[in-house]
Amino acid sequence: MSVSLEINLGGLHMKNPVTVASGTFGYGQEYDAYFDVAQLGAVTTKSLTLKPRAGNKPPRLVETPAGMLNAIGLQNVGLEAYLEHKLPFLRQKDVPIIANIYGHGPDEYAELARLLEEKGGADAIEANLSCPNVHDAKSSRGTVLVAQDPELVCAYTKTIRSATSLPLYVKLTPNVATIVEPALAAQEGGADAVSLINTLIGMAIDPETRRPRLANIVGGLSGPCIRPVAVKMVWDAARALDIPVIGMGGICSTEDAVQFFLAGASAVALGSMSFRQPDAAIRVVNGLADYLEGHELSGIAALVGGMAQ
Ligand SMILES: Cc1cc2nc3c(=O)[nH]c(=O)nc-3n(C[C@H](O)[C@H](O)[C@H](O)COP(=O)(O)O)c2cc1C
Repeated sequence: MSVSLEINLGGLHMKNPVTVASGTFGYGQEYDAYFDVAQLGAVTTKSLTLKPRAGNKPPRLVETPAGMLNAIGLQNVGLEAYLEHKLPFLRQKDVPIIANIYGHGPDEYAELARLLEEKGGADAIEANLSCPNVHDAKSSRGTVLVAQDPELVCAYTKTIRSATSLPLYVKLTPNVATIVEPALAAQEGGADAVSLINTLIGMAIDPETRRPRLANIVGGLSGPCIRPVAVKMVWDAARALDIPVIGMGGICSTEDAVQFFLAGASAVALGSMSFRQPDAAIRVVNGLADYLEGHELSGIAALVGGMAQ
């Protein structure tokens, strides 16, 4: 039986439904020694800002049981260096680019999206409204991550939407009581998909030195330990939304990815697992083809939201 892994993700054609999670795959070239990144459904870049950022002070990474805490603080080369030095490698490859962006305020996000489209630097935009390691959004509820306030999510999404015709994905935080409200707010603002989940805020303390293990004190928890939380949030959001969900959080294997599709994700992203096994995402691409064939399914759509109850 012939199976097709192709999908259309909110206007972006992908040869398979597997991408990589922002911040765990650099700008693609870093993984070129391990496999041909053109085999991915899309490459998602590290969060890009208008100007380069050095990020937080070390230590910025700590291992935890079944995962890791990070407080990188959006270290990145900035838009100009991305366009000049990182983009040419990716454009040699037959793979769509999802450019993840981070801005101070909605206008900066919009400016990034506009410039990326104008300069051919992206095939889709993923707006990171949920970085746990920077705090600069203000709402009537005090200082929050943008993605914690549905009104802000809607307003930011509308502003970015008006600046680009590229497919727009909005990345949300799991650090909320319910994911449904911010997910609906992104949809109302004009997002073509939501990306779930960013990291869970956490911390670790060294009992001998009594010091926090991260210089930033708190960081974002990722890896297999967060997978059940992510699957649940994808399930909640997918049932409430008309737009697709990109599922991520602790995916290590084909079986993990299948869980996300069954919960309602239309595409998946591998993050922390790429640090342990650089070609993990490609193994999942190949594993999905085998899974579909083994279960006599012709395409991924037959799995999406297909959890039996
Ligand atoms: C070291 C590290 C850096 C990250 N940097 C970003 C980032 O720049 N932008 C972003 O939207 N998410 C970032 N994330 C979050 C991931 O994209 C992903 O949402 C999260 O790690 C959950 O997936 P995982 O458990 O498979 O890693 C980062 C995660 C890690 C571990």
